[in-house]
Amino acid sequence: MAWVTRAIAAGDLSQRAPVDSRNEIGVLASDVNSMAEHLGTAMDDLRAARAEAEGALRRRQELVANISHELRTPLAVLRAHLDTLDMRQAVTSGAHASREPALPPATLAALQHETDRLTTLVDDLFTLSRAESGSLRVERHPVDVAALADDLVKLMRPLALQEGHIRLSVEVAPGLPLALADADRLRQILANLIRNAVRHTPEGGIIVLSVTREDGWVVAAVADTGEGIEAEHLPFLFDRLYRVDVARSRRAGGAGLGLAIVREFTKLMGGRVVVESIKGEGSCFRIFLPTSTDQEDDNPPPGQGRRITVDRGTPSPTP
Ligand SMILES: Nc1ncnc2c1ncn2[C@@H]1O[C@H](COP(=O)(O)OP(=O)(O)OP(=O)(O)O)[C@@H](O)[C@H]1O
Ligand SMILES: [Mg+2]
Repeated sequence: MAWVTRAIAAGDLSQRAPVDSRNEIGVLASDVNSMAEHLGTAMDDLRAARAEAEGALRRRQELVANISHELRTPLAVLRAHLDTLDMRQAVTSGAHASREPALPPATLAALQHETDRLTTLVDDLFTLSRAESGSLRVERHPVDVAALADDLVKLMRPLALQEGHIRLSVEVAPGLPLALADADRLRQILANLIRNAVRHTPEGGIIVLSVTREDGWVVAAVADTGEGIEAEHLPFLFDRLYRVDVARSRRAGGAGLGLAIVREFTKLMGGRVVVESIKGEGSCFRIFLPTSTDQEDDNPPPGQGRRITVDRGTPSPTP
């Protein structure tokens, strides 16, 4: 019977002990057999439940991807109509006033603004569902992250200044290796982080995009002197639709998809995102990217031994 119990313990639930006596050993053998029977049924139920849950998740992702894809066309048509109306009203205003009833300019502007917000939301949902379902293509080429950061900061500096006289600067360590990444996705990641930092940094604040090397990783970090985030929120920050400010104030109002996209893109590039924040002092989001020449063993998981909060549920990077 010993070999049967060993086989069962090792996961082979098909084995049965011979019951060839009515004494205590026989009873024990029959108990072992019925335990193996129950375990087998429970395992089958678990496998079926898991397959069902995975199927339901896949169907949900497909549904979200399909709906968001379908919404993109009517939204683009709506935006085009609003732009035409805008142009027509500009041309026919004044001396050549048209007999068609005109929309008040503020109403038209509000319609355009809300259509743009809806378009961003739908695009983000579409991107996220494709990233989660594995149907989003991510290239991995050698990328000069320092040059990319420099370009991005030049592009986004006016936004930061305009939104709240916020100074946006870039700091790059010398002699950085190239990272293995998708330049477009990386640009999207860093732009998302900078937009968040701008939203949550009061007037006159400072945002720094830095690129350094750490333990064999290229690290792009966005640090701000903004409002910061309470520790209890940090583990959930990268969950889709998670927002600290549930009231959605106008300035801070977003859907809560940006950081979920950041996490998915980073994961797809073989990297990891880490956040550190102190309420009232500021936040720092770091993106760890494998270097283009890295061997897997050269990279211990990022953030080890430092006082940081790590986005939970993301496996260690495998460059
Ligand atoms: N730099 C930051 N400082 C303070 N809070 C932040 C910062 N970045 C993100 N957060 C908090 O994390 C939440 C989630 O961010 P995320 O980018 O996912 O969503 P969002 O910016 O609200 O909406 P979306 O990105 O979809 O427009 C935000 O609502 C905000 O509460
Ligand atoms: Mg955001």
